[in-house]
Amino acid sequence: MTDFPVLPADFTYGVATAAYQVEGAVDEGGRGRSIWDTFCAEPGRIRNGDTAAVACDHYHRHAEDVGLMAQLGVDVYRFSVAWPRIQPDGSGPANAEGLDFYDRLVDELLAAGITPAATLYHWDLPQALQDAGGWLSRDTSHRLAEYADLVARRLGDRVGLWMPLNEPVVVTMFGHALGTHAPGLALGFDALPVVHHLLLGHGLAVEALRGAGVDRIGIASNHQPAWAASADPADRDAADLLGTLTNWLFADPVLRGAYPEGFADAMPGPVAEDLAVISAPLDWYGVNYYQPVLVGAPGRGGAGSPALEGAVAAGLPFEPMQIPDVPTTDFGWAIVPDGLREMLVALRDRYGDALPPLYVTESGCSFHDVVGADGRVADQARIDYHDAHLRAVADAIAAGVDVRGYFAWSLLDNFEWAEGYAERFGLVHVDYDTLARTPKESFHWFRRLLAAR
Ligand code: NOJ
Repeated sequence: MTDFPVLPADFTYGVATAAYQVEGAVDEGGRGRSIWDTFCAEPGRIRNGDTAAVACDHYHRHAEDVGLMAQLGVDVYRFSVAWPRIQPDGSGPANAEGLDFYDRLVDELLAAGITPAATLYHWDLPQALQDAGGWLSRDTSHRLAEYADLVARRLGDRVGLWMPLNEPVVVTMFGHALGTHAPGLALGFDALPVVHHLLLGHGLAVEALRGAGVDRIGIASNHQPAWAASADPADRDAADLLGTLTNWLFADPVLRGAYPEGFADAMPGPVAEDLAVISAPLDWYGVNYYQPVLVGAPGRGGAGSPALEGAVAAGLPFEPMQIPDVPTTDFGWAIVPDGLREMLVALRDRYGDALPPLYVTESGCSFHDVVGADGRVADQARIDYHDAHLRAVADAIAAGVDVRGYFAWSLLDNFEWAEGYAERFGLVHVDYDTLARTPKESFHWFRRLLAAR
């Protein structure tokens, strides 16, 4: 008899994906071009020259994938709506074929007893909006709200949880400060207006969703503890700055209606008025957690960390370092389950009663899994990962933090952005030649955990 992590009886379990990472069919159903299509077409941007043109072909295999989730027994499926399927050029009336696709998906989920949870912006900005300035332009915030309204009017009666944004910090840092994600801009601190426009877009989208009669609205925000490499004040300052940039710069405006000290002046537009929109109350708050980051002052000479590759080259005043003596995934990411407890407690301590109930909207690991001769995918390391991170959530709950659910990233191996198909986060293995799905041992473990409730 396996000893599973113990969470409250009404704790919600889910799996997550994102449109661009699983759907493929980039030229079908009237879909417009997104910044990631453009980025993938630029030589040298994606490892091995991979593209997401086919990905997991989920666009055609959604019924099979919903079947897998039904077998797994999850309560909720977190997917994202592809903005360029709904508004191929980023504005104006909806493309009916795009809405029809998600309408069918939502009905299939409900028929399987699974609650749909929709992310609206998981990084696939319509290229036409990028051409008009993208997230450096205030108009994009208004476009997000218009798009949110279109989706809510069609799916609002059936989607259980709504997230206008996924990981605004990654959009800012990788997409606009370091340039390793689309749209590939390496602006360093000149990327700060992107923060404000993403958050304003979030606030305006929340307004639009509420106007369309939708509730249970949150956000999926990436959070990571930033640990100083030493007690040296220069290292501590570097860690404080990185912790502020990755965590509080995004959470404070949403949960407190204010930017951390010193940042409001860098933001464009009527910032005080905008903050009132940005901080409209949420029903819940989502944390995507992968790893803490160890950070020192530049020149600290650390071994470097894949977590923030390029930070020093882009002129950012900190140096991420490999955390010594902790195991890593095959992606090189540190495995520190207690960092999840630490982060959940830190959020509660910082925001107190202003913090709505939390969900862990993503947690997961990449191992370079293969299907064995016996047809099995032996991924004990992933089982250990989820087991330990669920126990960390239980510890946070025991410490008084209100955590309502946990989503494993991801249902399927999928297109891991700049890493292409090299990294595998799924509970289900995908063979990219045949598109065959093979549930891994971690899938079966998760199924047993859910069945044992
Ligand atoms: C967070 C992102 O939301 C998701 O798209 C990505 O695949 C995972 N992290 C793993 O990097």
